[in-house]
Amino acid sequence: MRNVDVLLHRDFEIGVTDRRLFGAFVEHLGRCVYGGIYEPGHKTADKQGFRKDVAALVRELAPTIMRYPGGNFVSGYNWEDGVGPVAERPRRLDLAWMSTEPNSFGTNEFIDWCRATEIEPMLAVNLGTRAGDAARNMLEYCNHPSGTAWSDMRRKHGWEKPHDVKFWCLGNEMDGPWQMEAKTATEYGRIAVEAAKMMRWIDPSIELAACGSSGRSMPTYGAWEETVLEHTFDHVEFISLHTYINNYAGDTPAFLAACDLMDSFIDEVVAIADAVAARRRSPRRIMLSFDEWNVWYRTRRNRQERVLPGWPVAPPILEEIYNMEDALAFGGACISLLNHADRVKAGCLAQLVNVIAPIMTETGGPAWRQTIFHPFAHFSNFGRGRVLRTQIDSPAYAANYYDPRGPQDLYFPVPEAPYLKLSAVHDDKEGMLTLFALNRHLTEEMPLRVDAKGFGAMKVDTALQLHHADLQATNTKEAPNRVAPSPLSSVRIDGNHVQATLKPASWNVIRVKATR
Ligand code: AHR
Repeated sequence: MRNVDVLLHRDFEIGVTDRRLFGAFVEHLGRCVYGGIYEPGHKTADKQGFRKDVAALVRELAPTIMRYPGGNFVSGYNWEDGVGPVAERPRRLDLAWMSTEPNSFGTNEFIDWCRATEIEPMLAVNLGTRAGDAARNMLEYCNHPSGTAWSDMRRKHGWEKPHDVKFWCLGNEMDGPWQMEAKTATEYGRIAVEAAKMMRWIDPSIELAACGSSGRSMPTYGAWEETVLEHTFDHVEFISLHTYINNYAGDTPAFLAACDLMDSFIDEVVAIADAVAARRRSPRRIMLSFDEWNVWYRTRRNRQERVLPGWPVAPPILEEIYNMEDALAFGGACISLLNHADRVKAGCLAQLVNVIAPIMTETGGPAWRQTIFHPFAHFSNFGRGRVLRTQIDSPAYAANYYDPRGPQDLYFPVPEAPYLKLSAVHDDKEGMLTLFALNRHLTEEMPLRVDAKGFGAMKVDTALQLHHADLQATNTKEAPNRVAPSPLSSVRIDGNHVQATLKPASWNVIRVKATR
């Protein structure tokens, strides 16, 4: 491949990454909670039943905020079922995942787990089968100090101090017919705004996210965001976005171009939110919460295929096994999120453990890292700072991405996907410039030359690559490190230039220490 050139300047930035961009998601779904983060009786379990081996991997992964308890699950959830003495908590049918929910883990346990792992909690309220009343009561239970029935109930349950949860999601994917009590945009907009008003009257310090479309290919996409924001504009800080990238078509170049469609998705939602602002002549800007994103398709297809008979507790569903090419597509999504740091202020990798997850466990056995673990850990550990504008001169290819969830148009063209997908983040406190670089060419090495202006003298600090000759390679319990980062030895500094040769189909992280 010919030289691929990137031009950037220390002083030209897109925006600063919000801490909450690097979040993940724990849903009552399959073995995410039970047998995932929580497994009393496991040999590494602490006295609350939290798996310490999982917690250690979570620390390494470094998510900053954790969404809970769903997902589809939340649209039928009675939060009261999950608090109080465990022996008295009801078992319920969960119609989202056709399972039995024992409720032995609930909001208070989740908050304790978050505190133990030093992660900020993000809670979702049920606006499916329930509405504003349940939402305001839950907020009062969680955040009000004392002296009312709900807050004193929390204290009686053993949590004296308020949980002080700042980030709240107003329901989940309410546009989706698979949702319990799905709604039209007007129905949802009305319920969401009334819930938001009451919640903020109880605690003015909270931030709220309204549901956007459950995907860019939903037939109501666009009109949904507009209507919902017309109702909620003055009462929420965020609108949500969800994307699951697939390779149903077995078309790897198109799979790796899917993150460019995420870029379009973000740009479009920003445009709609700003159009709603413009109609009001309002300077207010609604931010984006990309609170579900990942690669997911093998275990997705339809409800029947993934549901086990007999209403099991914590069945092993949605246990997607990720390979090398998934890690590349996933890395592309990380770059898309970084490059929209000005408007995407929160994000949640869906999900955390076992269920479409970077961490896998065996119930009663070990825990290990899936391939997608690595790009996320790099993204979160090294992606904090000022995201810089970049000008990229790279050869490109045309792709046609297949999404079976689309309305009529099952193919989404990407006319020009540059082989290089890149993000540059400057941490000015550490004096560190980090380049995240994906070589989307499947067979050719990429000679990369980054002209990084304004940094003074530079020195390579760390350079890593994720590459495997077999794009289908996976990590397993027996071979947990088959796909793992290795040093990228080709990096050189030549004056202002950072140069490297990137392997075909590789994810790369180059960190350069700068004097300015
Ligand atoms: O993350 C899995 C599911 O995907 C979530 O429950 C739902 O919100 C989405 O459809």
